[in-house]
Amino acid sequence: MENFEDGAREHLLSVNVNENDGFNGSESKIQVKNLTRCLDKGASILKNVSLEIPRGKIMGIIGPSGGGKSTLLRALNRLWEPPSGTVFLDGKDITGVDVLELRRKVGMLFQLPVLFEELKPFSKTGTVADNIRYGPLLKGKKISDEQVYKLLTFADLDSSFFNKHGNELSVGQAQRVALARTLANEPEVLLLDEPTSALDPISTQNIEDVLVKLKSKGMTIVMVSHSIKQIKRIADVVCLLVGGEIVEVLSSEKLSEAKHPMARRFLDLSS
Ligand SMILES: Nc1ncnc2c1ncn2[C@@H]1O[C@H](COP(=O)(O)OP(=O)(O)O)[C@@H](O)[C@H]1O
Ligand SMILES: [Mg+2]
Repeated sequence: MENFEDGAREHLLSVNVNENDGFNGSESKIQVKNLTRCLDKGASILKNVSLEIPRGKIMGIIGPSGGGKSTLLRALNRLWEPPSGTVFLDGKDITGVDVLELRRKVGMLFQLPVLFEELKPFSKTGTVADNIRYGPLLKGKKISDEQVYKLLTFADLDSSFFNKHGNELSVGQAQRVALARTLANEPEVLLLDEPTSALDPISTQNIEDVLVKLKSKGMTIVMVSHSIKQIKRIADVVCLLVGGEIVEVLSSEKLSEAKHPMARRFLDLSS
């Protein structure tokens, strides 16, 4: 690790904030325009949602369950395919981008981490290091041991995790491995769907610290959370989604000034 050059070491974790592909300096990394999702029965999960997700900031998404938060998040990396002309990354319609390329740029973490060993119980592979190497390998790129160690350190895991298997990890540790695995793809945007709701307070704090570090490197982060306290701790701006509609977008210091009656009720009950 000593021989490893600092520049190369940093490379995996830096976000090229100037890489706008001709998109002329908008403050928004992602734009959502009039996004609607209807079920066959006619009910809508998302109703004409428009949202500007600021570049290099942490946006929190909160609201009662069933309100469409996960659906909105999943539209941003096409886990649910939005209609064309509704979601733009750096000004480009995401439905026109290669889906695997998009998912590398727009990484995602879920409530419960799934490490690959659990998907392939009979495989001899599936160590933490294998998990972290997986994304780049799909692109034909082998990342060095040093880079794996660097990602582990960044995700607040020491080098002893390198050869561990998923079944030797706590949920909090596995979530940090999942985070390191996502970061190995050098994403520009990180989507998080209640990433700490299964974690203890210390693991939660570890993850929050990493998110704040990533923001300082220019990453754009969108996090669904049911914890108002967490949103106040780390989000810059908060979007309140109720019944498939965005009812307010506020800076996190001004969250208590939300006016929509359902948003007020939700905030009062959760604080
Ligand atoms: N694929 C689907 N088919 C049918 N209903 C769905 C589907 N996905 C989500 N829903 C429904 O859409 C609503 C919003 O879901 P979701 O986006 O998961 O909300 P949240 O994450 O805010 O709890 C819920 O009523 C849910 O049951
Ligand atoms: Mg959800």
